Amino acid sequence: MRPSLIVLVLALALPLPGRAAYPDRPITLIVPFAAGGPTDVVARIVGESMSRTLGQQIVVENVAGAGGTTATTRAAQAAPDGYTLIMGHMGTHGAAPAMYPDLKYDPVKSFQPIGMAAGTPILIVAKKSFPAKDLREFVAYVKANSEKLNEANAGVGSVSYTTCAFLNSLLGAKPSRIVYRGTGPALNDLVSGQVDYMCDQIVNLVPQIQAGTIKAYAIAQAQRSPALPEVPTTKEGGLPEFQVTAWNAIFAPKGTPPDIVSKLSGALRKALADEGTRKRLLDLGADLSDTAAQTPEGLAKLVESEVARWNKVLKSAGATPK
Ligand code: MLT
Repeated sequence: MRPSLIVLVLALALPLPGRAAYPDRPITLIVPFAAGGPTDVVARIVGESMSRTLGQQIVVENVAGAGGTTATTRAAQAAPDGYTLIMGHMGTHGAAPAMYPDLKYDPVKSFQPIGMAAGTPILIVAKKSFPAKDLREFVAYVKANSEKLNEANAGVGSVSYTTCAFLNSLLGAKPSRIVYRGTGPALNDLVSGQVDYMCDQIVNLVPQIQAGTIKAYAIAQAQRSPALPEVPTTKEGGLPEFQVTAWNAIFAPKGTPPDIVSKLSGALRKALADEGTRKRLLDLGADLSDTAAQTPEGLAKLVESEVARWNKVLKSAGATPK
Protein backbone atom coordinates (compact mmCIF):
# COMPACT_ATOMS: atom_id res chain seq x y z
CA MET A 1 0.00 0.00 0.00
CA ARG A 2 1.26 3.50 -0.84
CA PRO A 3 2.33 5.56 2.24
CA SER A 4 -0.32 8.21 1.45
CA LEU A 5 -3.02 5.52 1.37
CA ILE A 6 -1.84 4.10 4.69
CA VAL A 7 -2.10 7.59 6.24
CA LEU A 8 -5.66 7.95 4.84
CA VAL A 9 -6.76 4.52 6.14
CA LEU A 10 -5.33 5.30 9.59
CA ALA A 11 -6.98 8.72 9.64
CA LEU A 12 -10.41 7.20 8.83
CA ALA A 13 -10.01 4.64 11.61
CA LEU A 14 -9.31 7.32 14.24
CA PRO A 15 -12.11 9.06 16.16
CA LEU A 16 -13.17 12.47 14.83
CA PRO A 17 -11.13 15.35 16.26
CA GLY A 18 -12.80 16.69 19.40
CA ARG A 19 -14.76 13.50 20.01
CA ALA A 20 -13.22 10.74 22.10
CA ALA A 21 -13.88 7.13 21.13
CA TYR A 22 -17.41 6.25 22.23
CA PRO A 23 -18.11 5.31 24.97
CA ASP A 24 -15.44 6.77 27.24
CA ARG A 25 -17.68 7.10 30.32
CA PRO A 26 -20.76 5.42 31.84
CA ILE A 27 -24.03 5.52 29.89
CA THR A 28 -27.32 6.35 31.63
CA LEU A 29 -30.28 4.16 30.70
CA ILE A 30 -33.44 5.85 31.99
CA VAL A 31 -36.25 3.54 33.09
CA PRO A 32 -39.46 5.60 33.17
CA PHE A 33 -40.99 3.57 36.05
CA ALA A 34 -40.15 2.39 39.57
CA ALA A 35 -37.34 -0.08 40.22
CA GLY A 36 -38.25 -3.76 40.37
CA GLY A 37 -40.99 -3.59 37.68
CA PRO A 38 -41.01 -5.08 34.19
CA THR A 39 -39.18 -2.29 32.34
CA ASP A 40 -36.55 -2.09 35.07
CA VAL A 41 -36.00 -5.86 34.98
CA VAL A 42 -35.54 -5.92 31.20
CA ALA A 43 -33.24 -2.85 31.32
CA ARG A 44 -30.99 -4.35 33.99
CA ILE A 45 -30.65 -7.76 32.30
CA VAL A 46 -29.93 -6.33 28.85
CA GLY A 47 -27.85 -3.42 30.21
CA GLU A 48 -25.53 -5.80 32.05
CA SER A 49 -24.60 -7.62 28.86
CA MET A 50 -24.35 -4.42 26.79
CA SER A 51 -21.99 -2.95 29.42
CA ARG A 52 -19.61 -5.87 28.89
CA THR A 53 -19.63 -5.36 25.12
CA LEU A 54 -19.23 -1.59 25.25
CA GLY A 55 -16.57 -1.64 27.98
CA GLN A 56 -18.48 0.99 29.97
CA GLN A 57 -21.12 0.64 32.63
CA ILE A 58 -24.76 1.19 31.70
CA VAL A 59 -26.28 2.81 34.77
CA VAL A 60 -30.05 2.38 35.15
CA GLU A 61 -31.83 5.48 36.46
CA ASN A 62 -35.48 5.15 37.51
CA VAL A 63 -37.47 8.33 36.83
CA ALA A 64 -41.16 7.56 37.41
CA GLY A 65 -44.19 9.79 36.82
CA ALA A 66 -47.13 10.48 34.48
CA GLY A 67 -47.27 6.93 33.10
CA GLY A 68 -43.63 7.10 32.00
CA THR A 69 -44.04 10.31 29.99
CA THR A 70 -42.07 12.54 32.42
CA ALA A 71 -38.88 10.55 31.91
CA THR A 72 -39.52 10.06 28.20
CA THR A 73 -39.77 13.83 27.74
CA ARG A 74 -36.47 14.19 29.59
CA ALA A 75 -34.82 11.58 27.37
CA ALA A 76 -36.11 13.26 24.21
CA GLN A 77 -34.53 16.54 25.35
CA ALA A 78 -31.17 15.03 26.41
CA ALA A 79 -27.96 15.68 24.44
CA PRO A 80 -27.83 13.28 21.47
CA ASP A 81 -24.37 12.00 22.40
CA GLY A 82 -25.13 8.37 23.26
CA TYR A 83 -24.74 8.91 27.01
CA THR A 84 -28.47 9.21 27.78
CA LEU A 85 -30.78 6.46 26.54
CA ILE A 86 -34.25 5.35 27.57
CA MET A 87 -35.93 1.97 27.86
CA GLY A 88 -39.25 2.99 26.37
CA HIS A 89 -42.18 0.69 25.74
CA MET A 90 -45.54 0.15 24.13
CA GLY A 91 -46.98 2.78 26.47
CA THR A 92 -44.44 5.60 26.25
CA HIS A 93 -43.80 5.06 22.52
CA GLY A 94 -47.17 3.68 21.40
CA ALA A 95 -50.19 4.55 23.52
CA ALA A 96 -49.12 7.84 25.17
CA PRO A 97 -49.93 10.20 22.24
CA ALA A 98 -53.59 9.07 22.32
CA MET A 99 -53.78 9.74 26.07
CA TYR A 100 -51.90 13.07 26.26
CA PRO A 101 -53.00 15.69 23.71
CA ASP A 102 -50.16 17.98 24.88
CA LEU A 103 -47.39 15.36 24.98
CA LYS A 104 -43.99 17.09 24.83
CA TYR A 105 -42.40 14.48 22.57
CA ASP A 106 -43.26 12.57 19.43
CA PRO A 107 -42.42 8.84 19.70
CA VAL A 108 -41.47 8.80 16.00
CA LYS A 109 -39.81 12.19 15.48
CA SER A 110 -38.08 12.84 18.83
CA PHE A 111 -36.08 9.61 19.03
CA GLN A 112 -33.47 7.54 17.29
CA PRO A 113 -34.56 3.90 17.76
CA ILE A 114 -31.82 1.47 18.85
CA GLY A 115 -33.75 -1.79 19.04
CA MET A 116 -36.37 -3.84 20.85
CA ALA A 117 -35.07 -5.55 23.98
CA ALA A 118 -38.04 -7.83 24.70
CA GLY A 119 -41.60 -8.57 23.73
CA THR A 120 -43.65 -8.76 26.94
CA PRO A 121 -46.99 -10.60 26.69
CA ILE A 122 -49.81 -9.32 28.88
CA LEU A 123 -51.62 -11.31 31.54
CA ILE A 124 -54.81 -10.70 33.49
CA VAL A 125 -53.91 -11.31 37.13
CA ALA A 126 -55.74 -10.88 40.42
CA LYS A 127 -55.11 -11.11 44.15
CA LYS A 128 -55.00 -14.65 45.52
CA SER A 129 -58.37 -14.36 47.26
CA PHE A 130 -60.20 -13.06 44.16
CA PRO A 131 -63.48 -15.01 43.99
CA ALA A 132 -63.15 -16.50 40.47
CA LYS A 133 -61.56 -19.80 39.52
CA ASP A 134 -61.07 -19.12 35.79
CA LEU A 135 -61.38 -16.38 33.16
CA ARG A 136 -65.12 -16.96 32.57
CA GLU A 137 -65.84 -16.49 36.28
CA PHE A 138 -63.49 -13.49 36.41
CA VAL A 139 -65.37 -11.84 33.55
CA ALA A 140 -68.76 -12.51 35.18
CA TYR A 141 -67.57 -11.27 38.58
CA VAL A 142 -65.98 -8.08 37.24
CA LYS A 143 -69.07 -7.31 35.14
CA ALA A 144 -71.30 -7.67 38.19
CA ASN A 145 -69.09 -5.96 40.79
CA SER A 146 -66.72 -3.60 38.98
CA GLU A 147 -67.68 -0.48 40.92
CA LYS A 148 -66.51 -2.17 44.13
CA LEU A 149 -63.18 -3.28 42.63
CA ASN A 150 -59.72 -1.67 42.55
CA GLU A 151 -57.59 -2.12 39.43
CA ALA A 152 -53.88 -1.31 39.76
CA ASN A 153 -51.83 0.33 37.01
CA ALA A 154 -48.71 2.40 36.36
CA GLY A 155 -50.45 5.62 35.32
CA VAL A 156 -52.20 7.12 32.30
CA GLY A 157 -50.48 5.94 29.11
CA SER A 158 -48.57 3.06 30.70
CA VAL A 159 -48.90 -0.51 29.42
CA SER A 160 -50.94 -1.65 32.42
CA TYR A 161 -53.23 1.39 32.22
CA THR A 162 -53.94 1.16 28.49
CA THR A 163 -54.31 -2.62 28.28
CA CYS A 164 -56.67 -2.68 31.27
CA ALA A 165 -58.58 0.33 29.83
CA PHE A 166 -59.20 -1.90 26.81
CA LEU A 167 -60.15 -4.88 29.02
CA ASN A 168 -62.50 -2.74 31.14
CA SER A 169 -64.19 -1.40 28.01
CA LEU A 170 -64.73 -4.94 26.69
CA LEU A 171 -66.35 -5.90 30.01
CA GLY A 172 -68.23 -2.62 30.48
CA ALA A 173 -66.39 -2.41 33.83
CA LYS A 174 -65.81 0.77 35.85
CA PRO A 175 -63.40 -0.14 38.66
CA SER A 176 -61.46 2.43 40.70
CA ARG A 177 -58.21 2.77 38.80
CA ILE A 178 -55.35 2.99 41.32
CA VAL A 179 -52.18 4.58 39.98
CA TYR A 180 -48.68 3.50 41.06
CA ARG A 181 -45.19 4.62 40.02
CA GLY A 182 -44.83 1.32 38.20
CA THR A 183 -46.24 -2.18 38.29
CA GLY A 184 -43.39 -3.28 40.59
CA PRO A 185 -45.02 -1.51 43.57
CA ALA A 186 -48.51 -2.30 42.19
CA LEU A 187 -47.66 -6.01 42.26
CA ASN A 188 -46.63 -5.76 45.92
CA ASP A 189 -50.11 -4.46 46.72
CA LEU A 190 -51.73 -7.19 44.61
CA VAL A 191 -49.77 -9.82 46.55
CA SER A 192 -50.84 -8.31 49.87
CA GLY A 193 -54.45 -8.15 48.63
CA GLN A 194 -54.84 -4.36 48.79
CA VAL A 195 -55.91 -4.17 45.13
CA ASP A 196 -58.04 -6.63 43.17
CA TYR A 197 -56.67 -7.08 39.67
CA MET A 198 -54.37 -5.75 36.99
CA CYS A 199 -53.14 -6.25 33.43
CA ASP A 200 -49.38 -6.58 33.49
CA GLN A 201 -46.33 -7.66 31.52
CA ILE A 202 -45.26 -11.26 32.01
CA VAL A 203 -41.68 -10.44 33.06
CA ASN A 204 -43.05 -8.88 36.26
CA LEU A 205 -45.29 -11.81 37.11
CA VAL A 206 -43.74 -15.23 36.56
CA PRO A 207 -42.12 -15.69 40.02
CA GLN A 208 -45.32 -14.65 41.86
CA ILE A 209 -47.58 -16.83 39.69
CA GLN A 210 -45.25 -19.80 40.16
CA ALA A 211 -45.22 -19.19 43.92
CA GLY A 212 -49.04 -19.04 43.97
CA THR A 213 -49.15 -15.59 45.62
CA ILE A 214 -51.43 -14.18 42.87
CA LYS A 215 -53.92 -15.71 40.40
CA ALA A 216 -53.30 -15.65 36.63
CA TYR A 217 -56.49 -15.92 34.57
CA ALA A 218 -55.19 -15.65 31.00
CA ILE A 219 -52.45 -14.53 28.67
CA ALA A 220 -53.72 -12.10 26.03
CA GLN A 221 -52.05 -13.60 22.95
CA ALA A 222 -52.70 -16.48 20.54
CA GLN A 223 -50.33 -18.99 22.20
CA ARG A 224 -49.61 -19.96 25.78
CA SER A 225 -46.20 -18.89 27.09
CA PRO A 226 -43.51 -21.55 27.57
CA ALA A 227 -42.69 -19.79 30.86
CA LEU A 228 -46.24 -20.30 32.16
CA PRO A 229 -47.63 -23.29 30.22
CA GLU A 230 -50.51 -23.78 32.69
CA VAL A 231 -51.99 -20.30 32.03
CA PRO A 232 -54.65 -20.43 29.25
CA THR A 233 -54.94 -17.88 26.46
CA THR A 234 -57.80 -15.37 26.46
CA LYS A 235 -59.22 -17.26 23.48
CA GLU A 236 -59.25 -20.53 25.41
CA GLY A 237 -60.77 -18.71 28.37
CA GLY A 238 -63.68 -17.25 26.37
CA LEU A 239 -62.47 -13.67 25.83
CA PRO A 240 -60.80 -13.84 22.37
CA GLU A 241 -61.23 -10.09 21.74
CA PHE A 242 -58.68 -9.30 24.43
CA GLN A 243 -55.46 -9.68 22.42
CA VAL A 244 -52.67 -7.31 23.46
CA THR A 245 -48.90 -7.56 23.60
CA ALA A 246 -46.32 -5.13 24.84
CA TRP A 247 -42.62 -4.60 24.27
CA ASN A 248 -39.66 -2.72 25.76
CA ALA A 249 -37.09 -1.06 23.54
CA ILE A 250 -34.05 1.20 23.73
CA PHE A 251 -34.20 4.69 22.24
CA ALA A 252 -31.64 7.51 21.98
CA PRO A 253 -32.50 11.17 21.41
CA LYS A 254 -32.98 12.19 17.76
CA GLY A 255 -29.70 13.37 16.21
CA THR A 256 -27.49 10.71 17.83
CA PRO A 257 -24.56 10.13 15.40
CA PRO A 258 -24.87 7.00 13.20
CA ASP A 259 -21.59 5.44 14.45
CA ILE A 260 -22.90 5.60 18.04
CA VAL A 261 -26.28 4.19 17.00
CA SER A 262 -24.55 1.33 15.27
CA LYS A 263 -22.38 0.56 18.34
CA LEU A 264 -25.39 0.56 20.64
CA SER A 265 -27.55 -1.51 18.35
CA GLY A 266 -24.69 -4.01 17.83
CA ALA A 267 -24.26 -4.31 21.60
CA LEU A 268 -28.01 -4.83 22.05
CA ARG A 269 -28.17 -7.54 19.41
CA LYS A 270 -25.10 -9.22 20.93
CA ALA A 271 -26.87 -9.19 24.31
CA LEU A 272 -29.97 -10.79 22.78
CA ALA A 273 -27.83 -13.49 21.15
CA ASP A 274 -25.95 -14.24 24.39
CA GLU A 275 -27.11 -17.53 25.89
CA GLY A 276 -27.04 -16.39 29.53
CA THR A 277 -28.92 -13.15 28.81
CA ARG A 278 -31.50 -14.95 26.65
CA LYS A 279 -32.11 -17.55 29.35
CA ARG A 280 -32.75 -14.91 32.01
CA LEU A 281 -35.25 -13.13 29.77
CA LEU A 282 -36.93 -16.30 28.46
CA ASP A 283 -37.31 -17.72 31.98
CA LEU A 284 -39.32 -14.59 32.80
CA GLY A 285 -41.53 -15.16 29.75
CA ALA A 286 -40.03 -12.49 27.47
CA ASP A 287 -40.62 -13.03 23.75
CA LEU A 288 -37.37 -12.63 21.78
CA SER A 289 -38.74 -13.85 18.45
CA ASP A 290 -39.19 -10.47 16.70
CA THR A 291 -35.60 -10.14 15.46
CA ALA A 292 -36.62 -7.51 12.87
CA ALA A 293 -37.61 -5.10 15.65
CA GLN A 294 -34.22 -5.62 17.32
CA THR A 295 -32.73 -3.30 14.65
CA PRO A 296 -33.10 0.52 14.53
CA GLU A 297 -35.05 0.31 11.24
CA GLY A 298 -37.36 -2.45 12.49
CA LEU A 299 -38.07 -0.62 15.72
CA ALA A 300 -38.85 2.60 13.80
CA LYS A 301 -41.52 0.71 11.83
CA LEU A 302 -42.93 -0.88 14.98
CA VAL A 303 -43.26 2.48 16.75
CA GLU A 304 -45.10 4.02 13.82
CA SER A 305 -47.57 1.15 13.64
CA GLU A 306 -48.05 1.02 17.43
CA VAL A 307 -48.90 4.73 17.66
CA ALA A 308 -51.57 4.21 14.98
CA ARG A 309 -52.85 0.95 16.52
CA TRP A 310 -53.22 2.30 20.06
CA ASN A 311 -54.78 5.51 18.89
CA LYS A 312 -57.51 3.41 17.25
CA VAL A 313 -57.91 0.92 20.10
CA LEU A 314 -58.09 3.55 22.85
CA LYS A 315 -60.44 5.82 20.89
CA SER A 316 -62.86 3.02 20.18
CA ALA A 317 -62.62 1.88 23.82
CA GLY A 318 -63.65 5.43 24.84
CA ALA A 319 -60.47 5.61 26.94
CA THR A 320 -58.99 8.80 25.47
CA PRO A 321 -59.46 12.22 27.15
CA LYS A 322 -62.73 13.89 26.16
C1 MLT B 1 -43.16 -0.79 34.79
O1 MLT B 1 -41.99 -1.02 34.56
O2 MLT B 1 -43.57 -0.48 35.92
C2 MLT B 1 -44.18 -0.98 33.67
O3 MLT B 1 -43.60 -1.12 32.43
C3 MLT B 1 -45.33 -0.09 33.83
C4 MLT B 1 -46.42 -0.21 32.79
O4 MLT B 1 -46.26 0.39 31.74
O5 MLT B 1 -47.45 -0.82 33.05
